[in-house]
Amino acid sequence: MSNAPAFTALQVMQDAPVIPVIVLNDVAHAVPMARALVAGGVRMLEVTLRTPQALACMEAIARDVPEAVVGAGTVRSKADAQAAANAGARFAVSPGYTSSVGQACRDLGLSLLPGVATGSEIMMAQEDGFTQLKFFPAMQAGGPAMLKAWSGPFFDVKFCPTGGVTLQNAPEFLALPNVVCVGGSWIVPADAMVKGEWDKITQLAKDTQALRK
Ligand code: 3PG
Repeated sequence: MSNAPAFTALQVMQDAPVIPVIVLNDVAHAVPMARALVAGGVRMLEVTLRTPQALACMEAIARDVPEAVVGAGTVRSKADAQAAANAGARFAVSPGYTSSVGQACRDLGLSLLPGVATGSEIMMAQEDGFTQLKFFPAMQAGGPAMLKAWSGPFFDVKFCPTGGVTLQNAPEFLALPNVVCVGGSWIVPADAMVKGEWDKITQLAKDTQALRK
């Protein structure tokens, strides 16, 4: 049985020009970081499952920052998807694609942005009904030129390029018709979190509004 997701993948992508890729090492940083991003106009938050604290951080954001929509990044297995849903995640992002991750997210009511880097991966994700995809790692795997090449055969697919994207090169991606938003970690620098520089994170989020398509 499938649950309808609270937000479709397209809605997740359209909310802001950038989906922040967040690595949290301290649960105490989760809520102030989420509030700082929301204050800067960014509310779709991808918390990566890369640290032991990630699930607790998602729970804290889901509980204490209702204006934010917390999602899970680095979802690599059915178990990751289940743990993320239990922690309050409302969308998922994966660095690659497998049918079992796709099915698990559907069953859990999580919209999924599956990661792809080749034509075959796009075809596999499309076969399973996913047409909004994360291009990862975007700069390393061909950058804007790759997306231009894909726009021919994969004319019906939209992308969120992530990996090596910055405020400086984001406009080149966002100018492409098959790009809806970009993903990036630059708006949540680790040192700003450690130093509690939440205003700096709000400003970095605000700076991305100028990228709006
Ligand atoms: C990731 O999953 O690590 C993202 O692609 C982030 O990449 P970035 O740190 O280059 O923005």
